[in-house]
Amino acid sequence: MAPTGRSSGGSSLPAFRPTLLRSFAPSVAKHADRLIQRLEETRGSFLEVTDPLFACLLDAIVDTSMGEQLETQSVAHSPIIKAFHRSSQLLFKRMINPLLASDWVFKQTRLWRELSEQLQVIHTLMDSLIDRRSAQLQQQGNEPRKALNLLDTLLLAKIDGEPLSRKEIRDEINTFVFAGVDTTTAAMSFVLYALAMNPEAQDRLQEELRQLPLGISIDLDTLNELPYLDALLKEVLRMYTIVPTTGRQTTRSTVIGGRTYCAGVTLWINMYGLAHDASYFPDPYVFKPERWMQETELQAEVPFSYIPFSGGPHVCIGRRYALLLMKLLTARIARAFQFELRPGQPELTLQAQMVLKTREGIHLAFTKR
Ligand code: HEM
Repeated sequence: MAPTGRSSGGSSLPAFRPTLLRSFAPSVAKHADRLIQRLEETRGSFLEVTDPLFACLLDAIVDTSMGEQLETQSVAHSPIIKAFHRSSQLLFKRMINPLLASDWVFKQTRLWRELSEQLQVIHTLMDSLIDRRSAQLQQQGNEPRKALNLLDTLLLAKIDGEPLSRKEIRDEINTFVFAGVDTTTAAMSFVLYALAMNPEAQDRLQEELRQLPLGISIDLDTLNELPYLDALLKEVLRMYTIVPTTGRQTTRSTVIGGRTYCAGVTLWINMYGLAHDASYFPDPYVFKPERWMQETELQAEVPFSYIPFSGGPHVCIGRRYALLLMKLLTARIARAFQFELRPGQPELTLQAQMVLKTREGIHLAFTKR
């Protein structure tokens, strides 16, 4: 998703080529190991998993897209995490309140003032990272020694012979980081929840991972060949539709399902409803990774029936990267720990915000295997 409000349809964000993704794996594994160390330090006591996952994914995404070490995982109460959380909440409050649609009205509100303060924390951080990298690139005569990451690509890009402005670069980076971190954090929280809720799924994944030689869990090609891991993540992304709704505006008169919509109408697409439609997914509220295993594969019968990353021209540009992050993290965490739900954890109340959230939070205990 691109919650900063700017569409990347015409942007310079690069698509993720498999070779580029492969080069990300060691950095992601390093941040995953730091997360594992933090979880080990909890010594089996219960904790809410969102913040530690968020810190890990923020560090990993900033590292791979900007080549910078944020070290959010080493800070107890990071102001950056707070700024990201709070600005997402405030942007969502605006999104669902038609009275705040006008910029003029919104700017008169306390909500806008708080949002500006939180965004300033993020902008200041991003500006300092961009300045540092820009200076390094200049020292290297704008010939970077390593493969280009997203920030390098943006710093060196020219449109009609002109470099991008600092604001354009920052907006692109913010879109990418906002879109990537919140979604993968939610997705990983639900992966851990689903595994804790379904011990037989945890055992089956263990069995699959046990067959790998030690250390192989950062080898992407190997991880991509694990059918149960793949099916498990697919089912989590279906059952807990991370982006529950999205919208599209008609640009001309359009007929959908026999109804005509004139140009300029906003249509909301209920992606959660689609993922829980029994005609595409029998027993839609039952968690069944097996439905994605080859023998019983139902998917692909109806085009666009499974679209956790949306579809069409605005399909998620980070989908392959998201799966890489999820596979690496799931494999490493599941290998390191057995995890269980807090006794008496009530059934989750899901909340459709910009990404799917839970009212109660997800409280798990991690015991070393
Ligand atoms: C499980 C994780 C993720 C899910 C479920 C997800 C889902 C989505 C969805 C549904 C959209 C389209 C929204 C729409 O149709 O309006 C989208 C767009 C986008 N995603 Fe993701 N995403 C994930 C991870 C990522 C990651 C890791 C990145 C980058 C690091 C990313 C970057 C983007 C960007 C930049 C867009 C905007 C594309 C555009 O507007 O053209 N996403 N994502």
